[in-house]
Amino acid sequence: MDLAVIGAGHVGLVTSACFAQMGHRVIGVDKEHKVTQLREVDLGLYEPGLEEMVRRQQKEGRLIFTSSIGEAVKASQVIFITVGTPSNPDGSADVSSVEEVAQLIARHLEEYRLIVEKSTVPVRTGEWLKRTLRLYNTRGVEFDVASVPEFLREGSAIKDFLHPDRVVLGVESPRAERLLRELFGPLGAPLVVTDIRSAELIKHASNCFLAMKISYINTIASIAEKVGADVDLIARGVGLDHRIGQEFLQAGIGYGGSCFPKDVAAFIRITEELGYDFRLLKEVEEINRGQRLRLVRKVKEALWVLRNKEVAVLGLAFKPNTDDIRDSPSIGVVQLLVAEGARVRATDPVAIKNARQVLGESVRFCQDPYEAAEGAHALVIVTDWDEYKDLDLARLKAVMAIPVIVDGRNVLEPQVVRAAGFEYYGVGR
Ligand code: UGA
Repeated sequence: MDLAVIGAGHVGLVTSACFAQMGHRVIGVDKEHKVTQLREVDLGLYEPGLEEMVRRQQKEGRLIFTSSIGEAVKASQVIFITVGTPSNPDGSADVSSVEEVAQLIARHLEEYRLIVEKSTVPVRTGEWLKRTLRLYNTRGVEFDVASVPEFLREGSAIKDFLHPDRVVLGVESPRAERLLRELFGPLGAPLVVTDIRSAELIKHASNCFLAMKISYINTIASIAEKVGADVDLIARGVGLDHRIGQEFLQAGIGYGGSCFPKDVAAFIRITEELGYDFRLLKEVEEINRGQRLRLVRKVKEALWVLRNKEVAVLGLAFKPNTDDIRDSPSIGVVQLLVAEGARVRATDPVAIKNARQVLGESVRFCQDPYEAAEGAHALVIVTDWDEYKDLDLARLKAVMAIPVIVDGRNVLEPQVVRAAGFEYYGVGR
């Protein structure tokens, strides 16, 4: 099939590359400077396997990039909208890019097209999309709108796209359903066919449920700490009940990234506008905010005074396998430490470049954990990168000023760390 994907961010690039690999002809669309970067430099983001996949599909001629929406609309049967929907200051989603793209698509419509929203959008965006497409499509060309929310995670995006747990098809016409079944059927996942509003709600309801699970286990962690229990064992005991499930029960410093914080805030706003006070989600947000403060309090308890202490921070990305630092709990932790007068020595396998733009000269960036640990009074693990799971403890101890480890993601074995001569502080254990 001929497809257009408008917006070459994380979701857009993964969608483009995966559809191309599945044999479709894909035109990726973005602003001129982004297209130049994509063609001549790099993808502008780190996602395992994606750069190679995009380059291979470009070389084989199934994937091209352009800044011309007109060209893409003309050539493609199905048009995916994958532009960003960042937060407004009040937490609501800024859908102006979706509206702008809808106008442009409408102006270029010459024959039937299916327009699919894949960006995370407030419920009823589909209706606005339809209205905009109708108003600006002065030739009265036929079209359909659909909602196919994306559930991929950064860091495992290709696998998530190609092997999803389910594909939600929010449609309003048999024609749209047929086209989407043809596209997504080969993935072999259960297809959940719904109306557009339900599809839109499924996306927010899913992300907010996962955020709720994380805040729930983080609260259990605080309780476990008070009574001397171990949250990791509790999570296992709870999660093996298949009705609950083991995933997203990893206690730590809370969720971050470009999705959960934004989507929880947006869903609270959407439901407020509908006259519902979603107190449960407000609490989820509040608990999450508190996790960063709790971690810094632990460092303070271990060192008594933070002023002029050297603190090694391991991990800057909001999670492993990405260089994304948007709403990263780690950045928040670093800022809190710096505000307390600590001298932070931070490291990350791939996110230093992005972190430097936010943190500037307030911290010293180091090549690896051992350089960060030199002269440190505490080593704080904030992102659960694999390489932080088997640190050479003897080597760390030899270079640190005093042997204190605060493990914000419970990646180390407390007994092993203590046996190596460290004071160990985890989350809820
Ligand atoms: C999330 C969802 O998992 C995807 O399904 C969704 O498509 C995506 O948002 C989106 O809306 O675009 P993502 O933000 O890439 O994906 O990352 P997650 O793996 O969900 O992690 C989010 C945050 O939760 C990270 O900071 C992670 O460290 C934290 N987390 C995750 C925990 O603290 N504990 C856990 O048990 C799991």
